[in-house]
Order: sequence, then structure tokens, then C-alpha cells
Amino acid sequence: MPANHRFSYRLIFLLLLCFKTAQRLVSGDPNDEACLANLRLSLEDPANNLINWTKPFFSNPCSGFTSYLPGAVCNNGRIYKLSLTNLSLRGSISPFLSNCTNLQSLDLSSNQISGEIPAELQLLVNLAVLNLSSNRLSGQISPQLTLCAYLNVIDLHDNQLSSQIPEQFGLLARLTAFDVSNNKLSGPIPVNLATRNGNFPRFNSSSFVGNKKLYGYPLEEMKSKGLSVIAIVGIGLGSGIASLVISFTGVCIWLKMTEKKMEEGEGKISHSMPDY
Ligand SMILES: *[C@@H]1O[C@H](CO)[C@@H](O)[C@H](O)[C@H]1NC(C)=O
Ligand SMILES: *[C@@H]1O[C@H](CO)[C@@H](O)[C@H](O)[C@H]1NC(C)=O
Ligand SMILES: *[C@@H]1O[C@H](CO)[C@@H](O)[C@H](O)[C@H]1NC(C)=O
Ligand SMILES: *[C@@H]1O[C@H](CO)[C@@H](O)[C@H](O)[C@H]1NC(C)=O
Ligand SMILES: *[C@@H]1O[C@H](CO)[C@@H](O)[C@H](O)[C@H]1NC(C)=O
Repeated sequence: MPANHRFSYRLIFLLLLCFKTAQRLVSGDPNDEACLANLRLSLEDPANNLINWTKPFFSNPCSGFTSYLPGAVCNNGRIYKLSLTNLSLRGSISPFLSNCTNLQSLDLSSNQISGEIPAELQLLVNLAVLNLSSNRLSGQISPQLTLCAYLNVIDLHDNQLSSQIPEQFGLLARLTAFDVSNNKLSGPIPVNLATRNGNFPRFNSSSFVGNKKLYGYPLEEMKSKGLSVIAIVGIGLGSGIASLVISFTGVCIWLKMTEKKMEEGEGKISHSMPDY
């Protein structure tokens, strides 16, 4: 029967189509899969906020326009945005995060994530937003991060980052928000981050405060550190005069005492000397 045949062909065709679609849906981007699976492994989740970030889901995290992984947003079948903020996350940031090569926005703020910011993040060439604020990140800020040339937000405030702010950060032309306040940074503030044209700071002191050993414009001169010249001269003169007076008195007393002793001695001698 030709009609029957046509029907079975259609059925086979439909089944094939379904299979193809299913296959495309199941096989996700291997880079994104490696990225998310490793990030999930490196993060600790005591509050079970990532309970739905379970292993089987990592095969194709972007089957639709949005990911079923809470906090992940997809675009063209790739992870485009990761926002895991205020979820009591601990642990560290996996260097494999750099496998999410289409990532444009990474927000892991307000958790308790520790360890270093992986230098591998330099491979995220599309990254525009990096918000790792209010965590426990330590170590130095990698100068390589400036290879992410599209960065326009770098928010690293309230961490324990140390060492210097890389000079190269001043070269990030698109930067509109920069905050490294309340860390343990030291050394000079890169000139290009502070001054743009004229006397207006590109980023004001709020971006840099709370780092004891960080210095330079736009941070104010530390008043406790820099005593005024007059005060220094005054203290110098004062202590000089005081020590002069003290030593003078000392010498006077000493002289008086030796004089007395000598007098006494003379007396003794005169006493012990037999009278002729
Ligand atoms: C993921 O990143 C790691 C480290 O950067 C790299 O070795 C690996 O080839 C990347 N790709 C996959 C699919 O794991
Ligand atoms: C996990 O997924 C289930 C079912 O889709 C949902 O009810 C629950 O709210 C999700 N939990 C979290 C923490 O996202
Ligand atoms: C962070 O999460 C806690 C608990 O889930 C909540 O009480 C608090 O309001 C959140 N903070 C912000 C800034 O969203
Ligand atoms: C970074 O995240 C924190 C907390 O979620 C938020 O308050 C802050 O505004 C963000 N930074 C920027 C520059 O958007
Ligand atoms: C720094 O600039 C921000 C806006 O860019 C502003 O909200 C803040 O008040 C300024 N802080 C100081 C100390 O000038």
C-alpha cells in the first residue's frame, strides 16, 4: 500500500528528526560543561543553594535560551552570565572557570569564597563584569587580568587581597567601575586609575580606602603619619632645650658634689695632718 508506505517514511523521518534534535540538545558545549562541573566541585555549598547543580544536568547546561542551573544565563547555546551572589558559598574559584569562554558577566559577590583569583580568568576575553566583592579572597591580583580588554566593572572590595594593584589596570580603557576598597593592598595607586584629564580622579578615594599600606592620589595624606614641619621643629627644639637643661643641671649637681667632696677631703687631710 503506497499510502501506508508514505506514512511509515514520514514516521521514520519524524523519529530521525526527533533523535537529531534530542542529540543536539543533549550534547552541550564541552567547554561549558567542564567549566560548570569544575566550578561546582571547587565551591562548597553548606546551605544547599546549588542543590540543583547536579552532575547529570551538566550535559548541556544551555538547552534553551536560559539554563536550568540557577544563576546561569545562556546566549546562543553558551553560558553568558553567572550570578551566584549571597548564597553562603565557600571553597574556591576553579581555574576551569576559564572554560566558559563566552562568559561576559561573573558575579560571585557576598559569599565566603577564599583562595586566589585564578590567573586563568585572563582567558575570558569577553568578560565585561567581574564582581567578586565581599568574599575572603587572598593573594595578589593577577596583572594578566588586563588581557580581558572588555572589562568595564571590576569590583573586588571587602576581601583580603594583598600586594600591589597591577599598574596595567590603568590601561583598561572601558573601565567604568573599579573598587578595591577594604583589602590588604599596598604600594602606589596606578596613576592611570586615579587621574584622567585635569585634576578630576577617574576613580575617587572610595575605590581605594581601607587598605592600610596603599598610598597616592586620590587617597588623602595620612594625617597621623605626617606630622607637620612646625611640629617636628618644635618637638626637636623642645627636646633639645630640655636635654640641655637636664644635662646642665646634672653637670651643676655633679660639680657641686665634687666640690663638696673635695672640701670634705681637704678637711680630712687637714684633720689627719699632724700639726707641727
Ligand atoms: C578547560 O581549561 C583547562 C585549564 O585551563 C584546560 O586544560 C582544558 O583544556 C579546557 N577545556 C576542557 C574541555 O576541559
Ligand atoms: C531545585 O529544583 C526544584 C525542582 O525544580 C525546585 O523546586 C527548587 O526550588 C530548586 N531549589 C533551588 C535551591 O534552586
Ligand atoms: C542575603 O541572604 C540572606 C539569607 O538568605 C538574606 O537574609 C539577606 O537579606 C541577603 N542579603 C542581600 C544583600 O541580598
Ligand atoms: C557587586 O556586588 C555587590 C553585592 O552583590 C553589589 O552591591 C555591587 O553594587 C556590585 N558592584 C557593581 C560595581 O555593580
Ligand atoms: C566617589 O564617587 C562615587 C560615584 O562615582 C560617589 O557616589 C561617592 O560619593 C564619591 N566618594 C567620594 C569620597 O567622593
